[in-house]
Amino acid sequence: MDLEYLSGFGNEFASEALPGALPVGQNAPQKAPYGLYTELFSGTAFTMARSEARRTWLYRIQPSANHPAFTQLERQLAGGPLGPVTPNRLRWNPLDIPKEPTDFIDGLVGMVANSGSEKPSGISIYTYRANRSMERVFFNADGELLIVPEQGRLRIATELGVLEVEPLEIVVLPRGLKFRIELLDAQARGYVAENHGAPLRLPDLGPIGSNGLANPRDFLTPVAHYEDLKQPTTLVQKFLGELWACELDHSPLNVVAWHGNNVPYKYDLRRFNTIGTVSFDHPDPSIFTVLTSPTSVHGLANLDFVIFPPRWMVAENTFRPPWFHRNLMNEYMGLIQGAYDAKAEGFLPGGASLHSCMSAHGPDGETCTKAINAELAPHKIDNTMAFMFETSQVLRPTQFALDCPQLQPAYDACWASLPVTFNPNRR
Ligand SMILES: [Fe+2]
Repeated sequence: MDLEYLSGFGNEFASEALPGALPVGQNAPQKAPYGLYTELFSGTAFTMARSEARRTWLYRIQPSANHPAFTQLERQLAGGPLGPVTPNRLRWNPLDIPKEPTDFIDGLVGMVANSGSEKPSGISIYTYRANRSMERVFFNADGELLIVPEQGRLRIATELGVLEVEPLEIVVLPRGLKFRIELLDAQARGYVAENHGAPLRLPDLGPIGSNGLANPRDFLTPVAHYEDLKQPTTLVQKFLGELWACELDHSPLNVVAWHGNNVPYKYDLRRFNTIGTVSFDHPDPSIFTVLTSPTSVHGLANLDFVIFPPRWMVAENTFRPPWFHRNLMNEYMGLIQGAYDAKAEGFLPGGASLHSCMSAHGPDGETCTKAINAELAPHKIDNTMAFMFETSQVLRPTQFALDCPQLQPAYDACWASLPVTFNPNRR
């Protein structure tokens, strides 16, 4: 079917799959239309400032409360607990897609996190690998999910409607939203940032003005779509890092109408209005921020989602790759397609790198030497899409991430070939 979407970011959207299903003029009438039940789905505390508040009113066939007790699943999330702390720079080759039947939940593997799952704060980062559609329905009580597909298209049936995403698109699912991820291709792989902090939003633009970077109209939210299915359905939730499940006798994706701003949405990264220098040097990578989750300290993000899209490089008399740097922020990078302009090799689509607070990094030796000696002319970096999950708290790798064979043993070596070119007699 051709999917319909509502356009905008942070809007008070309204959608109904049956005409007149949405009550007019009030949220909870004594009798909701069509015999539906009314339910409030809150993404923020009731008393949050209006500009921060997220909530959606749902009109559904059965209320979510109609479920038996959850019991802990035998098969828990892959990745396991956090491993020992390390200040080292780490880089991973892409994880293999399993051969045995694996849905999105079973294929989710924890890579790094700010905190242990029993006390979630900051962000947690996962890789997902799947070769079959979910037959279960899932919700995450621990945070909002930002999904970045690297391989394979996904059809995501949610309580609020259906979204389809492909690599170079992203999708954000609010904390607690129920969904089922189906594969539209034989297999799928990608990245997930789980945001335990304030919901993602568009960054402020400052002197850039009222347009640019990711524009609100390019964010798409599904229209209402419901399943009136009386069939056994397993509902799985993640609660403080553990998977629990219960059996329903109906599909929980049974919302016929809804209105509100606590909604899932997708965004096509190719629509990002990339801004850069037209004179010399280049701006900080914050100029590439798509979405941000702020902390209570103004300007300090809990999570910045930053992309490195195709763009023209025109800076004169400039070292054009990312400079060498040591940052307060902690950077987890991934690659959706192509090559990243700071690394000649070793950073592959589906792979990842971790540069923690104050760990020194930058272009590798080969890229650096090439950039210093390059004949500068306008040049387009094309066929690429790297990204960064950046967070203000230190990211700790899971034991799995430290033990897996995909961890590159000699990542530091990529900077070892930087020649000493200093000569006090030649300015
Ligand atoms: Fe960096």
